Amino acid sequence: MSRLPQHPAPSGKLVPPPKADVIKEFLAPLPARPTLIDVMRVRLNTPRYGMKFAVAQHVAQSAAQALRAGLDEEAVLACLLHDIGMGVARPDHGWWGAQLIEPYVSEKVAWAVRYHQALRFFPDPSVGYEYPELYVGLFGPDYQPPEYIQAAYRYARNHPWYMIARSVTLFDEYSFDPEAPLDLEPFADIVGRHFRQPAEGLGLDSSATSHMWRTVIDPTKPL
Ligand SMILES: [Fe+2]
Ligand SMILES: [Fe+2]
Repeated sequence: MSRLPQHPAPSGKLVPPPKADVIKEFLAPLPARPTLIDVMRVRLNTPRYGMKFAVAQHVAQSAAQALRAGLDEEAVLACLLHDIGMGVARPDHGWWGAQLIEPYVSEKVAWAVRYHQALRFFPDPSVGYEYPELYVGLFGPDYQPPEYIQAAYRYARNHPWYMIARSVTLFDEYSFDPEAPLDLEPFADIVGRHFRQPAEGLGLDSSATSHMWRTVIDPTKPL
């Protein structure tokens, strides 16, 4: 008969855990069944993680440019959601964002959100996309992206969906006006048609990423 593992005997002085700090931050209340627009309007409208811009303002400006340029609805939605991963974490936000939205959007939209991150580092003169000045400041003048970013770029560059992710990078530029008011109304119909809003509310359904939405909605919960 196998023996149950034993809790090890304490050695030396017992050290209790330090008193936990609870981060106090005013978070505006959300409706009981939050929609994508609610989360963007109420929670992603202030800069976080040391960023100089709020995710919602930036992506709304990006999607507005895409709309004006006459892109199709999936491309506009990809622009609208492209940095939503920054609501969870800043590093690898393309991957976080794609995962967050995967249960609710088409595979193509999630794909564009995932790969825009890698494509941002690589110019494409055929559409007039240049290496961002912003990145010279962030990463230094001679920066070489890590191998996983280069591999993601090579993969995306040869993929039939390349151009939707490239469109996201195009309309990512010049979408950082901090004075621009947040206006999500122009996208309500596109969101209605292409984002499968759960009836229970984001963070309250049983999707594989519901916990990630809860983190976006309540980022200072102690546990
Ligand atoms: Fe991004
Ligand atoms: Fe962006």
